[in-house]
Amino acid sequence: MTTPRELDLRPGQSVELLKELHILTQDGKLNQDSRRKLKQVYHLYQFIEALLLELPASPGSPTIADHGAGKSYLGFILYDLFLKPRGSGQVYGIETRAELVTRSQALAQRLGFERMSFLNLSAAEASDAQQLPGKIDMVTALHACDTATDDAIAFGLRKQAGFLVLVPCCQAEVAGRLRQNKALALSRTPLAELWRRPLHTRELGSQLTNVMRCLYLEACGYQVTVTELVGWEHSLKNELILARRTGQRKRSAAERLRALLAEFGLPELEPVRFPALAALPSPGEAAGS
Ligand SMILES: C[S@@+](CC[C@H](N)C(=O)[O-])C[C@H]1O[C@@H](n2cnc3c(N)ncnc32)[C@H](O)[C@@H]1O
Repeated sequence: MTTPRELDLRPGQSVELLKELHILTQDGKLNQDSRRKLKQVYHLYQFIEALLLELPASPGSPTIADHGAGKSYLGFILYDLFLKPRGSGQVYGIETRAELVTRSQALAQRLGFERMSFLNLSAAEASDAQQLPGKIDMVTALHACDTATDDAIAFGLRKQAGFLVLVPCCQAEVAGRLRQNKALALSRTPLAELWRRPLHTRELGSQLTNVMRCLYLEACGYQVTVTELVGWEHSLKNELILARRTGQRKRSAAERLRALLAEFGLPELEPVRFPALAALPSPGEAAGS
């Protein structure tokens, strides 16, 4: 049996949960693999905890919506380490796979984690869903597939989230469009060499998507930090985007985003992925630069 000290357990932390998440074996042991996994989970938790501590303490807070929740281990850890000791707040896990939703509901009930709700909804549907409140303090999306990250961003903007914590997954939408327009782009600019080869199309598509997401968040009043989720060795996708709501919308970011869309031949993406740009002040009008 591993001691609480070896596990770096906090007072009151659920060993039962760590077993359920397969971080600990059923007899409470910690092997090399699970030691690494635990370190990774704590590492991400530390980023999020620092942000949660910035939120003003108000009744019912913090509210957290986790998009593409999967087995909801992030939500469970956040609840166990932060919401449970506070005795306040609610985690909403949003997940399209019904069996994962049922499984998380059962686990929350078993652990007595009463302020966790699991909703069998897509990230896009969640924006209008009655089961969610009008405002949410934090939106998380950890490897939410493809455009689910964009839907999580749209949700966060709609709910005026104080923070968004995003670790994007593979992205296919932009790469698909770059592929379609390849011949035209190659005749127009040598920069199209950047996405001429299929592997590069995919990689550039991902990179460009995340760059545009950051600009969009800045244009919509968020301060954005991009860093690496160090220690996330099990995944190639370890870009962590942290967005903090300041309310200061950056016109220059909106202009840059539009310029990128034009340069890469993607203007049709604006109404689909960046609809709030249409409502932002045009050049000459008052706004942050
Ligand atoms: C790669 S898993 C990540 C799960 C979890 N966040 C994690 O990091 O362990 C992605 C999850 O997102 C779910 N998903 C995919 N598209 C979604 C969407 N549009 N809305 C909500 N969930 C989605 C999938 O069913 C899957 O469980």
